[in-house]
Formats: sequence, C-alpha cells, structure tokens
Amino acid sequence: MSGTIKTAEEIEKMRVAGRLAADVLQMIGPYVKKGVTTNELNQICHDYIVNEQKCIPAPLNYGHPPFPKSICTSVNHVICHGIPADKKLKDGDSVNIDVTVIKDGYHGDTSKMFVVGKPSILTERLIRVTQEALYIGIKMVKPGARLGDIGHAIQQHAESHNYSIVREYCGHGIGANFHEDPQVVHYGKPNTGETLEAGMCFTIEPMVNAGKRYSKILPDQWTVVTKDRSLSAQWEHTLLVTENGVEILTLRDDENIDRIINH
Ligand code: MF3
Ligand code: CO
Ligand code: CO
Repeated sequence: MSGTIKTAEEIEKMRVAGRLAADVLQMIGPYVKKGVTTNELNQICHDYIVNEQKCIPAPLNYGHPPFPKSICTSVNHVICHGIPADKKLKDGDSVNIDVTVIKDGYHGDTSKMFVVGKPSILTERLIRVTQEALYIGIKMVKPGARLGDIGHAIQQHAESHNYSIVREYCGHGIGANFHEDPQVVHYGKPNTGETLEAGMCFTIEPMVNAGKRYSKILPDQWTVVTKDRSLSAQWEHTLLVTENGVEILTLRDDENIDRIINH
C-alpha cells in the first residue's frame, strides 16, 4: 500500500507537530541522570506535553493492551516500547526516549539515545553507529528513491560494524494517524519496494543490536528485548519527502545534519 501525499496544510501541521516532539527530547535531556526513574521522566514529559505544549501524548492508551504511559523508555537490552517504571537509572545505562505528540490532529514521532554517567566504549559505539545508520537512511530520501534503497543502506552500515538490524519493528507512514502505510523496514535490497513521492511523511527508526537480531516480547505485552540480552540502540526522525530531497521534521539543536537536504 502506498503512502498518501500530504496537502500543503497538512505538511504545515506536520512541521508544527514534529518541532514539538523534538522540543520534548531537548527539554528532558538534563533530567536523564543517575538515580532518576523512568517513571519520573515519563511524568515530566507528560506534564510538559499536556500543560505547556497543549498536545496529546500519542502513546498513552495506544494499542492493545493500551500502553499505560506517555513516552517509551527503553533501557540497555530493551529494543523498544519500554514502559516507564520505578527502577532508577544507574551509571553506564543507555536509554532510548521515544516521544510522539499529537498537535491539531497530526503526529510528530522521534526518539533519541541518552547515556547515564560514563558509558562503556561498546555502548558509545553502538549508539553512534545507530545514529549514523539513521542519517545514512535519511540521506537516501528523495522523490524516485525506493524504500529498499533506504533499508539496504541502513542494514549495510550496521552490519559492516558487526551489529544486527531488528526486523520485527519498522518505520512507518505518519500523519493524522500514528502508524500509516508504508512500512519502512531497516533492511532490504536496492531498487525494490515502494517509490517515494514528494509530500509523503514517514519515520525512519532503526533498532540495532550489539548481538543477534532476534527479539522477544515480555509478559507485559509491550516491552521488546533482545533475545540474547545484548545491548540495543534506536534513533528516530519524522521526515517529509520534498521536491528535491528530504526535510527532517523532528530535528534538534544538538544534531549535525541539515534540516533540509537537497539532491
Ligand atoms: N513511538 C513508537 C514508534 O516509533 C511507537 C510506540 S507505540 C506505544 O512507532 F504504544 F508503545 F507507545
Ligand atoms: Co515511529
Ligand atoms: Co517513536
């Protein structure tokens, strides 16, 4: 199924929602410290999204069973969909915070890795390579490119560092719905899959494991962990396909990549 093309009005709403989602990740950074619980991070984000931004946190009550919190916090070997809890973060932990806000009916979805205290060399390297994989994928985006081109570039980068790509979860079209067509997988073959057109919005959100690619879901029916308990990292942006390339709708100030890439 092909992704729908957004109108100019919809695109403007996606820009607003994207910026707000990015702002949440910028706001929460100083709070990600040794001793804080992921529940406290959830509460700070929830209050900011609801009271300051006047937005809806999309994860809250999403899906079946309803997701119980307003953000996802995925610590160490948790791949994605970690549920905020009362366990304190400790020195060396890595945590992905995934924020999705709804503003004026449109979604902005983005995630970032944070580290607590001094991370191991492996942790730092996995996080860096995963962010590079996201950026390499983003740079493939332009009208006429195909989804397989993006997936292939991301997979090549991760595997060239002896890491593995999670296959059970993927990026997605986004707009008035949290998850729309198309599915944007982070592996694949060049010159395959759907062809991109200007006006499409979707996320790229590679999950990269230090060990094998296999995952399992915990009994809470949400938390996804690596089967071999190896470390996992993820970064996510919401993107717009433009006439000449791509616009990163969820770009933050701490990033070294242009918001608009023209080819
Ligand atoms: N934000 C996730 C994504 O990138 C989805 C989280 S679903 C939730 O697609 F229910 F866990 F919040
Ligand atoms: Co997403
Ligand atoms: Co997300």
